[in-house]
Amino acid sequence: MKPLNLLLTLLLPPFALATPIRSMFLFKDVLKSNTTALTTSGFNTLMIFGIGVLSNGDIKYYSNTPGSSDVVIASNGTYVGGDSLSTKVRSFKSLPSSTITRVEISMNSQHITPLTPLLASNFRALKAAWSLDAVNNDDESIYDVSSTVAFAKMLASNSSSGGGGYRYTISPYTNTRFWTSVTSQLNKSLKEPDLVMDRVYLQCYDGGAGNNPASWQSALGGIKVVPLVWVTNDSKPGQGTTAAQARSKFSGWNKGSALAGGGYWNDFDIEKMKLSYKDYGDALTSVFP
Ligand SMILES: *[C@@H]1O[C@H](CO)[C@@H](O)[C@H](O)[C@H]1NC(C)=O
Ligand SMILES: *[C@@H]1O[C@H](CO)[C@@H](O)[C@H](O)[C@H]1NC(C)=O
Ligand SMILES: *[C@@H]1O[C@H](CO)[C@@H](O)[C@H](O)[C@H]1NC(C)=O
Ligand SMILES: *[C@@H]1O[C@H](CO)[C@@H](O)[C@H](O)[C@H]1NC(C)=O
Ligand SMILES: *[C@@H]1O[C@H](CO)[C@@H](O)[C@H](O)[C@H]1NC(C)=O
Repeated sequence: MKPLNLLLTLLLPPFALATPIRSMFLFKDVLKSNTTALTTSGFNTLMIFGIGVLSNGDIKYYSNTPGSSDVVIASNGTYVGGDSLSTKVRSFKSLPSSTITRVEISMNSQHITPLTPLLASNFRALKAAWSLDAVNNDDESIYDVSSTVAFAKMLASNSSSGGGGYRYTISPYTNTRFWTSVTSQLNKSLKEPDLVMDRVYLQCYDGGAGNNPASWQSALGGIKVVPLVWVTNDSKPGQGTTAAQARSKFSGWNKGSALAGGGYWNDFDIEKMKLSYKDYGDALTSVFP
């Protein structure tokens, strides 16, 4: 070991502090949104919204964008979403100037049963084709603990009948009791960096506007949360948050109780309202450097 290396080894703590999370939900069709802006404005996590499982185990990407159509992306154990989509999603992390280190898919259709080997192989194929890191659970209606826990464990499993080692994350807006139960069952006897459920993105807008990140952190047993706010938008203008307002919200919450980072719902509104990705990214970087 060279002297400099030795010195660094002695000075650095045995584990690095976790990098703050700066996230953006991708509501707009990823083939139509501004990839350059998304990958160079300071965000490190992108969450692709609108992934669902069909009754035959196929996985579908719901575009949520005028002029785009929904597309089956995995079927019969194979990725079938096409090259342009896989090239686009992989580029989020691989572009030379990108700051993105993690890409998640977000699903709001939960209660996924049955957990067949075919379903698992579809998730494995999708993970490989899109170079995915995690599956996000945005359940806002079903709240079934046992099927949720079983699905998350299947996704995380590296066995031949598993999803291929996905991390699992949640984005609650209400129902602390359900999420606490899911968290404790998924955490059982696991620690960082081996947690199956390793992130909590808390909706602090719309139905979750009254949420206090600190209270959720304690309810979830101390696991750090990532509060989300909704950018300026014309769908529920009253829920809109400018970049300056976002900065002051994040800063206030983080003073109250140290958080894991912050994030936004969503890129479609940023582009529709002609807002600046850079301003929203800077708000996060300044509070969570
Ligand atoms: C995408 O964002 C970049 C800034 O990161 C900007 O220069 C460019 O004009 C945007 N492209 C479009 C099509 O809006
Ligand atoms: C499904 O995959 C199997 C094995 O790879 C193959 O034999 C079968 O023809 C496929 N079925 C369909 C409908 O594509
Ligand atoms: C699956 O493998 C990955 C990568 O080796 C690892 O990080 C993860 O903890 C494994 N998952 C489980 C549930 O063992
Ligand atoms: C989940 O696991 C984390 C990390 O080990 C722990 O801090 C937290 O107390 C656990 N939460 C629950 C609800 O069990
Ligand atoms: C979207 O929300 C923002 C913030 O509340 C508001 O200022 C803006 O006027 C809204 N946009 C439209 C088109 O109503």
